[in-house]
Amino acid sequence: MRVAAGFNLPARDMLSPTLFPLFCALFLCLPLAVIFIVQREITAVVSPESSFRSLYPRNVHPSSPVVRLRPLIPKDDGQLLRLASRVNPNQPSPGSTRKLAFMFLTTTPLPFAPLWETFFNGSSNELYNVYVHADPTREYDPPFSGVFENRVIHSKPSIRNSPTLAAAARRLIAHALLDDPKNYMFALFSPSCVPIHSFDFTYNTLVSSNRSFIEILKDEPLQFDRWAAWGPNAMLPEVRLDEFRIGSQFWVLKRKHAHLVARDRRIWGKFNQTCVWEYSCYPDETYFATLLNMRDPRGCVPATLTHVDWSANNGSHPRIYEAEEVVPELIVRLRDTRPRYGEDGINGSDWSVGRNDPFLFARKFSPESLGALMGMARTVLFNDSACVN
Ligand SMILES: *[C@@H]1O[C@H](CO)[C@@H](O)[C@H](O)[C@H]1NC(C)=O
Ligand SMILES: *[C@@H]1O[C@H](CO)[C@@H](O)[C@H](O)[C@H]1NC(C)=O
Ligand SMILES: *[C@@H]1O[C@H](CO)[C@@H](O)[C@H](O)[C@H]1NC(C)=O
Ligand SMILES: *[C@@H]1O[C@H](CO)[C@@H](O)[C@H](O)[C@H]1NC(C)=O
Ligand SMILES: *[C@@H]1O[C@H](CO)[C@@H](O)[C@H](O)[C@H]1NC(C)=O
Ligand SMILES: *[C@@H]1O[C@H](CO)[C@@H](O)[C@H](O)[C@H]1NC(C)=O
Repeated sequence: MRVAAGFNLPARDMLSPTLFPLFCALFLCLPLAVIFIVQREITAVVSPESSFRSLYPRNVHPSSPVVRLRPLIPKDDGQLLRLASRVNPNQPSPGSTRKLAFMFLTTTPLPFAPLWETFFNGSSNELYNVYVHADPTREYDPPFSGVFENRVIHSKPSIRNSPTLAAAARRLIAHALLDDPKNYMFALFSPSCVPIHSFDFTYNTLVSSNRSFIEILKDEPLQFDRWAAWGPNAMLPEVRLDEFRIGSQFWVLKRKHAHLVARDRRIWGKFNQTCVWEYSCYPDETYFATLLNMRDPRGCVPATLTHVDWSANNGSHPRIYEAEEVVPELIVRLRDTRPRYGEDGINGSDWSVGRNDPFLFARKFSPESLGALMGMARTVLFNDSACVN
């Protein structure tokens, strides 16, 4: 709107016939003027301390002023998501590359950064993008480097037992949608997640799927408590108890579903309320499963591809593998285990016969196990044919 107002005024002054040639010259300059004004708007929106100018250095082509529009990424979540909801939700056109968006949600430096570095090493950066959400109230020493350098999005405090973790995941999705139209699958990771297959295997498994991988469980223990975490009936009428679902927050969403999340205001408005009961407040483990189950269950494989061991039942924390447990046998066993499909009448085989999806990632590994993982990176972890004799 400001653009139009900006050039209407001088154009009206030019109506005198003697000034006609000058008017023509100015008219030819209009596109430039518009670009200039648009850029001024951006400068006004993006404050000087903003990190966005350096966030996507690979995509900035100084010769093309239009591309500079990309830094126009609002810090306000509502504006950010509204902008992201306007991107093309369709998968990249046939023939064009599909990319994976690796989205890390952290409050600490990434202990397995060297392992991820090795995972990505050798694969074309045309096949993936990395995004990091790092709670700005925490310290990051060592700072993010290598594939993680300049990939931190505008982040906000993210705290367990509150909607802020799910809000951070939504922020990551919005940035990844806006950053690259080729992002096809959007995967969320914590600092204690590690890959247990090669990049090529992971890439081929994910880009060949036209469904999201997200655990969707019904009638889990504490379903009522989790639904009522915002207060009795606080979720009504948008989300009834029988519509409420639980599942791991470590999902991989296809582009259409990432867009669906960015567009959703109705259901998020419920989950984004302040919890009354902190002990059962896990929006990050309920919002995405509930939303996708309500909107497009058939577009989902109702399982997580990130292995986790809850058998130890250590409070609300799953088992953490210590360095001495991290041996080739463990990795091979995690790979041989098959995901648990949701219990919603949709166990992955209702719509396509005989699913046999492998786990691609696993958690939780203690930071001390980095050495053990690096030691078997080439021989086992990223060796897709590795077995234990
Ligand atoms: C979520 O809730 C917080 C705290 O009430 C609020 O500041 C924020 O604007 C809300 N976000 C959205 C996208 O509605
Ligand atoms: C990446 O691969 C190259 C060539 O194979 C190797 O020299 C380099 O050390 C590797 N870097 C990492 C971080 O693994
Ligand atoms: C996925 O692709 C298959 C075949 O290519 C098609 O039959 C199916 O409808 C697609 N499913 C979704 C959810 O797009
Ligand atoms: C159990 O949880 C505690 C902290 O909550 C952690 O220190 C410990 O390592 C965990 N044990 C296992 C086996 O994961
Ligand atoms: C899925 O359900 C079908 C029929 O309901 C059953 O035969 C099959 O074993 C189930 N598969 C898995 C992986 O749970
Ligand atoms: C990969 O695993 C296979 C089977 O265990 C083994 O024979 C091969 O040597 C491994 N490759 C590397 C590079 O270690």
